Amino acid sequence: MYILGRGLSGGLRTRVAAAFGITVGSIVHTLAAAAGLALLLATSPLAFTAVKLAGGAYLIFLGTRRLFTSSSKRLRPDPQVKPARGGAGLAFGQGILKTGTICCVAWSRQSRQMEHCCSAALTVTAACCPSGASIIPGTSLSGRSGGQMRDSQDYPLGYSEREARRLAEQGAMLEDLTAEVFRRAGIGPAMQVLDLGCGVGDVSLLVSKMVGARGAVLGVDRASASLHIAQQRAASLGVSNVEFKEADLGEFSTARSFDAIVGRLVLLYLPDPAQVLRRLSRQLRPGGIVAFQEYDMPQTSQVPASELFTQTRGWLLQAFTAAGAEVEMGTKLYTTFLHAGLPAPSMMAAMPVACGPDTRGYEYMVGVLRSLLPWLERAGIATAAQVGIETRAARLRDDAVANARVAFLPRAVGAWTKVGGKAAP
Ligand SMILES: C[S@@+](CC[C@H](N)C(=O)[O-])C[C@H]1O[C@@H](n2cnc3c(N)ncnc32)[C@H](O)[C@@H]1O
Repeated sequence: MYILGRGLSGGLRTRVAAAFGITVGSIVHTLAAAAGLALLLATSPLAFTAVKLAGGAYLIFLGTRRLFTSSSKRLRPDPQVKPARGGAGLAFGQGILKTGTICCVAWSRQSRQMEHCCSAALTVTAACCPSGASIIPGTSLSGRSGGQMRDSQDYPLGYSEREARRLAEQGAMLEDLTAEVFRRAGIGPAMQVLDLGCGVGDVSLLVSKMVGARGAVLGVDRASASLHIAQQRAASLGVSNVEFKEADLGEFSTARSFDAIVGRLVLLYLPDPAQVLRRLSRQLRPGGIVAFQEYDMPQTSQVPASELFTQTRGWLLQAFTAAGAEVEMGTKLYTTFLHAGLPAPSMMAAMPVACGPDTRGYEYMVGVLRSLLPWLERAGIATAAQVGIETRAARLRDDAVANARVAFLPRAVGAWTKVGGKAAP
């Protein structure tokens, strides 16, 4: 429309320049979007507002100029009047600006969709990203082969960009339950805390709020790309008391002392979690806290249970087991603490419940199943065609709503103890 308009009001040069402007603008803005600008806008309220204001100002400018230009001048170019000097340059520049305006609107929409996606926490927790930490900032991983951050052979869920986003959504879903475990464990202001297997940073960011500005958190994970995202999230939230370090927990050692060692959904992946806890708990000050939250997956259930749900649950359990993960790590926290030489822990358990048409519980289950698809296929458990991943969550939810089914997601078990002191009740 713009090129047509310029064609009517200008000469051939103006028309060509306008077309070039639109083309160059499209390329520039597409490249910017591909580089993760939309993701950045989603995480930086300042950048998002700046783009909205700039876009709005430009639209007001266009509208005002239209108003004060007589309609006859606009519609009927005087054949005697040659196109103004610099008309081609102006058309070129305007072409770029116009694609910019359209892209701003598109990026804003994208940003809002991502906010919506992360704020849709499960019905039971109704936790709408209270830490504000559930959006993943501008980190474009699309250039990496197959969308993988790194080889996922030995970690069942892999490190794709989609998995990173799933982790953040899971973080929002579990935030209240995890905070309750840490609160009961005694995590509080001014503590120095070590977060094992921090992933994209949800637990570290949660604890950073609990320890406040006088405290500090060190998050450790072996996936550098996850740590990069975690760092960006902390920066975009203005959190300065968290740092992240890349290390394998099987070998990680530090000379630093801590008031607490925490972690969530990480011990299940370690070949010898008790050995890791025994080694790292030596870094605890007297009275230091060990607090973890892990799943009991077999406890996932639906009442009354559908065939589709039973199949989905079964595949999840089989895939995790085939990948070598401990599916009952929640219960095993008790013996793991004892084997690590720690005092018997206090424990609590809770589980998110999926019910009603607005629940995201089935999306959560199927999100995990999606990340496990390579394992399902590799272990000969199910084929992609059998899984039908794109429609499975909707099928599960529709069936649950139609038949008034209630699903209990994995039991999240918390365990905590104090080294050289008594565990909080
Ligand atoms: C399910 S994620 C949980 C992340 C985070 N704790 C949370 O709750 O959001 C498990 C994390 O443990 C990390 N992990 C697994 N085995 C590890 C190891 N041996 N050393 C370091 N990190 C490990 C993975 O890289 C992954 O980021």
